[in-house]
Amino acid sequence: MKHLIDIMDLSVSEIDEILELAGEIIASPEDFSDVCRKKKLATLFFEPSTRTRLSFESAMLSLGGNVLGFSEAQSSSAAKGESVSDTIRVVSCYCDIIAMRHPKEGAPLVAAMKSSVPIINAGDGGHNHPTQTLTDLLTIKRELGRFSGLTVGLCGDLKFGRTVHSLISALSRYENVKFVLISPEELKLPEFNRKEVLERGGIAYSEVTSLEDAMPELDVLYMTRVQKERFFNEADYLRLRDSYILTPEKMALAKENMRVLHPLPRVNEISVAVDEDPRAAYFRQVLNGKFVRMALIMKLLSLGEKERAQK
Ligand code: NCD
Repeated sequence: MKHLIDIMDLSVSEIDEILELAGEIIASPEDFSDVCRKKKLATLFFEPSTRTRLSFESAMLSLGGNVLGFSEAQSSSAAKGESVSDTIRVVSCYCDIIAMRHPKEGAPLVAAMKSSVPIINAGDGGHNHPTQTLTDLLTIKRELGRFSGLTVGLCGDLKFGRTVHSLISALSRYENVKFVLISPEELKLPEFNRKEVLERGGIAYSEVTSLEDAMPELDVLYMTRVQKERFFNEADYLRLRDSYILTPEKMALAKENMRVLHPLPRVNEISVAVDEDPRAAYFRQVLNGKFVRMALIMKLLSLGEKERAQK
């Protein structure tokens, strides 16, 4: 049985297959509308979410399946003191696949060890967020047609931003990808990512503080929210939250074919005036998230081979 806890659980060819399947779903969604009939997805969200939870639910419903679950720890038995392991042993009796978000790093890995059905990590603390990465990869592929040779700027909270950590791991496996890490000193990429992924892989990267200076060389700019909920003290958050604000003036410094991505929710880091710029891809990215999750659910449940063969 396969789980998705870390994006590195998938090989490059498995990722390519998922992106290809997502492309087929986008081209003719009705061909897949019954693939998960009688299957149930449980969404266990111990931490708030709008996009990720609803996109999983929408994905399963679009495949003809059903969904159950909870959207906050307070409304589950976690509030009574139940352990993650016990919750998972119970819930895996009720469903065929589980998408789980938890504030503690590593909780989905613990869940996978106890589960009798596939577990998908829908975000664990400041650690990883592999399905957002599949969304990001599909968006880059559809917008720019390739990964190799791209210069990717990641801007904002690189320390606590789990989407950044997973995206760097994933893109590092393609050829000649170069990273520009744009953050304040206090929010730099953690050691585990910089040393284990970038340095060990001999990947080209630079760490800078100025977004303006980085802008002209970027093919992709991945903006992120400063992760308020992971700060120990509010004064630090207030001081750092507006470190970067992307505006039309800054967009004027970028390549004509550059793309802006953001996992959302946005707070202040992208001015709404940028939304109308055709290079702003973040709302298209949301839709890609649903399609890529459909593809992932099909892969983990080994469903849809027949429908694809008939085409
Ligand atoms: C991200 C997350 O939860 O890490 N959101 C999402 O899943 N789209 C990013 C964030 O919350 O800033």
